[in-house]
Amino acid sequence: MRDAVKQLWPEIDWIGNAQLREQVTETWVKALERSPLKASDLDRIPFTLLIPNCPITFMEHKRCVVHIARASAEAMQSFMGRALPVDMDTVIAGAILADVGKLLEYELDPNGQSRQSERGEALRHPFTGVALALECGVPDAVCHIVAAHAAEGDLVKRTTEAYIVHHADFMAYLPFKNPKNVKTR
Ligand SMILES: [Fe+2]
Repeated sequence: MRDAVKQLWPEIDWIGNAQLREQVTETWVKALERSPLKASDLDRIPFTLLIPNCPITFMEHKRCVVHIARASAEAMQSFMGRALPVDMDTVIAGAILADVGKLLEYELDPNGQSRQSERGEALRHPFTGVALALECGVPDAVCHIVAAHAAEGDLVKRTTEAYIVHHADFMAYLPFKNPKNVKTR
C-alpha cells in the first residue's frame, strides 16, 4: 500500500520534515486500507460528484490543488512573508490530505461509478479526513486545513495556510460550474 501511495503522490517528497512526510503517507495508507476504492480508481473517477459529466479525475484535481497551493504560498512568502509568515510544509501536507476523507465518503455503484455512501452523507470528507489524520499523528495545524478547506470551514477562523489551500481547491473547482468554461471532447 505504501508503494501505491508513493505512486499516487510524488508531491509527498516536497514535505521537508521527515516525520510529517511519514504521517501524511500513513494517513493515505490507512484511507486506502479502509476504502471501498482502490488506488487505480482514483485515476478514473471524477474529482467531484457535484459537476455532471466531470471530465477531470480525482488525482488530476488533487495534485493540481497541491501545485497551486505551493506556488501561491511561495508568492505570498516572497512578497509578504515579513508580515505574513507561511509554513510551507503545513501548506503542502494540508493540501495533500484535504480530500483524503473522500476515500471514506465515496463508494462504487454496481457500474463502477462513484457515489456518496451512507457514511459519507453522515460525515463528509473534512470530518473523516481529520479522524484519519489524527489517528496517524498529523499535527493540529495540518488537521485544521483538512477541517476548514471546504464550505464547512467558512465558520472557522482560518490560518493563512488554510486560506491558501481553500482558495487553491476552489480555484480548481469553481470554473467547472460554468459549463461554458469546459471543453468537451
Ligand atoms: Fe474537499
